[in-house]
Amino acid sequence: MITKIFTDNDALSDYLAEQMIELILEKPTALICFASGNSPRNTAACFVQKVQERKVDLSRFHFIGLDEWVGVPSAVKGSCQNDFKNWLFEPLAIEAGQYHLFNGMSADLDEECIRMDEHIAAQGGIDMMVVGIGMNGHIGFNEPGSSFDVKSHVVPLDEITSSVGQKYFEQSMKLSYGITLGFQHLLSTKKVFLIANGEAKAGVIQKAVEGEVTTAFPASVMQMHENGFVLVDEAAASLLKT
Ligand code: F6R
Repeated sequence: MITKIFTDNDALSDYLAEQMIELILEKPTALICFASGNSPRNTAACFVQKVQERKVDLSRFHFIGLDEWVGVPSAVKGSCQNDFKNWLFEPLAIEAGQYHLFNGMSADLDEECIRMDEHIAAQGGIDMMVVGIGMNGHIGFNEPGSSFDVKSHVVPLDEITSSVGQKYFEQSMKLSYGITLGFQHLLSTKKVFLIANGEAKAGVIQKAVEGEVTTAFPASVMQMHENGFVLVDEAAASLLKT
């Protein structure tokens, strides 16, 4: 795992969007997985701008969403699906057949997990993941205690995630479960970028990068990935010792 520190979130986003473009130019059929939330928003905007300016051909590229809130309809502002539609699919006119997202409203969530795992296998695996980190160290909805050895799964959300998650919604939401890719997917992805910006993330970044590797602090899984990159701005890096 390598940690890269940027002066600010714009520099970080520009670097990461460039990495995405390079991958697609090199492998036009690449499968990229993205988190929603606040951290990747600016990277998505940079990516859209670069694709449009350079007329990058996205017609063979594939996208999957990292996770979704269970019980939240896709039309609701704050759902992961809604973010992806606004950030990427609409501005880049990405066809429905090019992306696969978890349906958090499905009556059969186990089937939803199987469909995602089969989709990833059919695509030949994930080429790149862009993920954030929660205030309890989660990645996706892999909450503390989640095994490093699972594929897609449904997870009861802990108190921190349910309360912090309210910030994405216009009204108070009941957030009890998440559906998410598991760490077996993350560990078998060719390149993983964990991104964080701002002082509030300094403590969790320090634990992820320099703490013990343990399922009790899920983001420490990044230390196990040979091609894992932690991209942070100076504020989020401020508690790193080295
Ligand atoms: C969202 C997701 C979450 C977030 C994390 C950080 O799809 O996977 O794990 O990445 O909660 O959220 P932000 O970026 O809003 O601080």
